[in-house]
Amino acid sequence: MCGILGYTGNHQASEILLSGLAKLEYRGYDSAGIAVLENGNIKVVKNKGRLQALEAKIQGEDVTGTCGIGHTRWATHGVPSDTNAHPLWSDDMSVVAVHNGIVENYREIKNTLSGYGYRFYSQTDTEAAVKLIDYYYKQENDPLKALTRAIREIEGSYCFVLLFHDRPGEVWGARKDLPLIAGQGEDEAFLASDVSAILQYTKQVYYLDNMEIVQLKGGLVRFFDTEGYAKPKELSEVTWDAQSAEKGGFDHFMMKEIHEQARAVKDTFGAVYHSGKIDLTEINLTDEAISKLSQIYIIACGSAYHVAAVAQYVIEDLSGIPVRIELASEFRYRNMPLDENALAVIISQSGETADSLAAMRKAHEHGIKTLGIINVVGSTIAREADSVFYTMAGPEISVATTKAYSAQLIACYVIAIQLAKVRGKLDDARYEALITEIQKLPEKIDEILDEAGVLKRIAARFVNARNAFYLGRNIDYAVAMEGSLKMKEISYLHSEAIAAGEMKHGPISLIEKGMLVAGVMTQKNLYQKIASNMLEAKSRGGYIFIVSPRGCDVLKDEADFVFHIPETDEHFTASLAVIPLQLMGYYVAVARKLDVDKPRNLAKSVTVE
Ligand code: F6R
Repeated sequence: MCGILGYTGNHQASEILLSGLAKLEYRGYDSAGIAVLENGNIKVVKNKGRLQALEAKIQGEDVTGTCGIGHTRWATHGVPSDTNAHPLWSDDMSVVAVHNGIVENYREIKNTLSGYGYRFYSQTDTEAAVKLIDYYYKQENDPLKALTRAIREIEGSYCFVLLFHDRPGEVWGARKDLPLIAGQGEDEAFLASDVSAILQYTKQVYYLDNMEIVQLKGGLVRFFDTEGYAKPKELSEVTWDAQSAEKGGFDHFMMKEIHEQARAVKDTFGAVYHSGKIDLTEINLTDEAISKLSQIYIIACGSAYHVAAVAQYVIEDLSGIPVRIELASEFRYRNMPLDENALAVIISQSGETADSLAAMRKAHEHGIKTLGIINVVGSTIAREADSVFYTMAGPEISVATTKAYSAQLIACYVIAIQLAKVRGKLDDARYEALITEIQKLPEKIDEILDEAGVLKRIAARFVNARNAFYLGRNIDYAVAMEGSLKMKEISYLHSEAIAAGEMKHGPISLIEKGMLVAGVMTQKNLYQKIASNMLEAKSRGGYIFIVSPRGCDVLKDEADFVFHIPETDEHFTASLAVIPLQLMGYYVAVARKLDVDKPRNLAKSVTVE
């Protein structure tokens, strides 16, 4: 996600901020900016694009001052642009802030503040929050009181760092569900979203707890709860070097991103869930549009296609609307009947995949409306699609996707539920039950991650393996495809996903003694079917690895290993079953000492055919 910095001390803030932001570049960003407070004035310099461009722009400006804030932005609300770049300010520049996260109720806040005469110049959710804080600051004339009042109203996940024009030498911050740390230097103090931004200045840090407010003043750091009461906190010493700090203490970006999935799921759902309801009006899926739909084509490549495969089962089962899934590279060159009343959904993390883009253009040529499920705001597919559902995974650095895949699943579930609701296939109780299940997924994903150690031990058995099979039926087959891809692309262990019923039509002849045969088994009505397929593999010497929900004891005596995932609604099991499979791929690749984040021959964004 975005990178955030705050500084107060004896040095020129702009220099500290620029070099700190440079340490956050690895996270990916599309715009950058700083603000410096001096003599009651806050000077902001920001732009779309690289930090070098910001540095050049700063040369021509007077940014003298020893107190300031900085930001690298990864767009979520509003395209990358100079205007949407942070910092953002209140109308009279009395409050200026940078923000990481999502203000879910920004529309409501904007509406209320518009009634008090506030005007809005950007497309961001952040601006609404800055102006809400400004509104309370004008009443209270006290940053702490303004912040405590504002954060009681702001919904979502956030980390804010702020300047108040008449508070010289002070930087304020607040966090909820996103990281913020305070660094203690000699007569200087820092705030940062990421320890790597300040390691060059200090290793002495305070970790803010959730829902805390922080003040930097006179080189000191103070903490408050959301009632405004001061809180004591202990200083810690960072032991990471700069490189491991970038990875949040994990050995690889892939593992860091695997651990960011709960947050990605929560934020993606939070972005379309308002006042107890799924609201897709912003992506043009109005009730009227839904009732006119004849069918859905979901088009994508690689892991995004595997999401489509899950979505097909979920949408058809919940809503009854026919879904056709297509590999973009095939769809673009096939001559087939296409229905003008269909909706073409293009799923893409990067929004730049050449085949997916070409497939979308083909849909347009046939007069079909398109909806992009996209992670990178302002990417080509996002710009050309008729409407966009942005996933909130944040920048993904590891070539092998994990958190974007998980966020895409959520987008598809939400669409499925909404289609089903509007088509009269869900009563209120079922609608609410499904939503509750989605809301519980983040916690369950984290529960699985707590068990990662056991998968590391199993993976060690396959360090010299040459082949693996991943089996499943229906949704579980879709998950098997993703698990198999994760294994092969980063560990170079040849693996195939097979619809379990197809085993007897050929692939079973490949099973050898000790071969990993992973079975995904989350759909009760198919337990016995897949169990038979797994036993056939076992009797030919396969190592049987099962992923199934707690409470399923099918094959508990026959399997070599059973990994239990928490129970959830059967439509959403992909979100949980994929996690142990991602971890298996990761651990085999690590055991083989491979470059997990940059597997050979692969690129993060496939912009050529
Ligand atoms: C696999 C992976 C790829 C992408 C595929 C599509 O881990 O990341 O298979 O899913 O290249 O990329 P996007 O989603 O950017 O269109």
